[in-house]
Amino acid sequence: MKIIICDNYSELSKKAAEIVAQQIQTKPNCILGLATGSTPIGLYDELTAMNQSGEIDFKDVISFNLDEYYPIAADNDQSYRYFMQKNLFSRININTSNTFIPNGEAADPVAECREYEKKIAEKGGIDLQILGIGQNGHIGFNEPDANLNSDTHLTELTQSTIEANSRFFENADEVPTHALTMGISSILKSKKIILLANGPKKRKVVASLLDSGINTNIPATMLKVHPDVTLICDREAYPGMHLGIDIGGTDVKFGVLDLDNNLVYTETISTPKASTDKNIMKAISDKSKMIIEKFPIAGIGVGTPGLIDKKRGLVSASNLPFDKSPIVDYLRQNIGIDIPVCLENDACCAAMGEAHLGVRAKNMLMVTLGTGIGGGIVIGGEIYSGSMGNAGEIGHICIDHDGIACACGHNGCWEAYASVTALINQTKKACEENPDSILNKLIKDEGAVTGKTVFDAMDKGCPVAQKVFDKYTTYLAIGIRNVIVAFDPDTIVIGGGISKEGERLLNPIIEKVKSDTPIRISILQGNAGAIGAAMLSKLKNTVK
Ligand code: F6R
Repeated sequence: MKIIICDNYSELSKKAAEIVAQQIQTKPNCILGLATGSTPIGLYDELTAMNQSGEIDFKDVISFNLDEYYPIAADNDQSYRYFMQKNLFSRININTSNTFIPNGEAADPVAECREYEKKIAEKGGIDLQILGIGQNGHIGFNEPDANLNSDTHLTELTQSTIEANSRFFENADEVPTHALTMGISSILKSKKIILLANGPKKRKVVASLLDSGINTNIPATMLKVHPDVTLICDREAYPGMHLGIDIGGTDVKFGVLDLDNNLVYTETISTPKASTDKNIMKAISDKSKMIIEKFPIAGIGVGTPGLIDKKRGLVSASNLPFDKSPIVDYLRQNIGIDIPVCLENDACCAAMGEAHLGVRAKNMLMVTLGTGIGGGIVIGGEIYSGSMGNAGEIGHICIDHDGIACACGHNGCWEAYASVTALINQTKKACEENPDSILNKLIKDEGAVTGKTVFDAMDKGCPVAQKVFDKYTTYLAIGIRNVIVAFDPDTIVIGGGISKEGERLLNPIIEKVKSDTPIRISILQGNAGAIGAAMLSKLKNTVK
């Protein structure tokens, strides 16, 4: 399927008109398949203008419309015959006797459909079919179903189509319950097809069309078997790419996923220091705006530390100046385009990234080692947030009820023993107790302790560092064993900067956990959060 993305509806209408004009110019007596609905109105305006300026001539053109309500009188102002007369036929030099529309007044609708199908074939078949797409994926009135009827037929409209079309009627009760429509095979017999979609209401269904294989529950996917289909959509309908934003205390990462889930762009900015929440939100929205200008972004996912209120789009975080900060509204108001923005905890985003595009596991638990310990639970490919929305805070599993005081107000939390902050504290303490150690000398030379110090000292053969590390991996193993017992996941993934140490970190943990559950190092590493946030946005904005 060829895809043309236009900036707006007017460009879409012009692009479609160009294709129709070309068809008429190469074959003046061509057969056009026409659609009704709001989508092709701009196209019909363009064709009218081209006809009136003499650019195209409809004198010998024959047209077959896709469908008509049943029962409905031709002169009813809601009939598709009336619509076509008003929006196209009465404005161009087409011969009305060359315009065919299923007869909504036929006494025998089944015979009418049979005759209609026959007439299309007798005239030589449709050269160019114009289609719109329903929000439920219908084309013509071929509604989602386990079995799709192939030829022109009488069909019952689904509730969702009745509701969508009720905007043209006084109310939903007045929408006819049936229609006569070309079938999928009638449509597929056309030599060339253009499928038009505009506006944000079509974004979900276009996403599903592009994402899914052939599926009778999304009838438009049937077009994928046709060799010459062009989808023309405006930016608002194009599901496009998704932007993931991973907010951290030090920096903010941006990542763009294309339709095939390739990470096509990444960028990192420093989190503005000693700043207000507004300054940070502004820096994020300015950068997002620049990315949106470069890529057709259809949705944004934001991952952030701290407590989030997903419904209201608010964030409160202790290591950032966020206190019920309205990040979602701020972005929506400042990025200059009306696209959805969703919010999720950063560790959950990282877990989503790994589950879908990293280690690829349906049920997994991600342990992110950093200032604290973040956790993200993915069950069946989706984030499990729990009833209060904070599931996955595994850093606060208690491993010693009389233990170290944690910032959360409790004692003995796992992160007080096994986060990178804890490792740094343990390293410092070991230095104080062992002033002659290689570890202490290294720290004096380097001037600071980081999570890497202990590894560097082990490389130099320091037994004190080895002891610190052994104890640290024991603490890590205790928590990991606990979560394996509680969740029995397909796999555990360890992320965070320290996971760059790879097998050196992993092997002692595996040895100490003693479980059949695979424990792995994050594949996506520092990009996991941004990729997961983009993935989340994509999944939220696709019809399943
Ligand atoms: C119209 C038709 C329908 C519409 C579809 C989109 O003849 O067959 O499939 O194309 O319902 O309608 P709009 O354009 O109103 O969104």
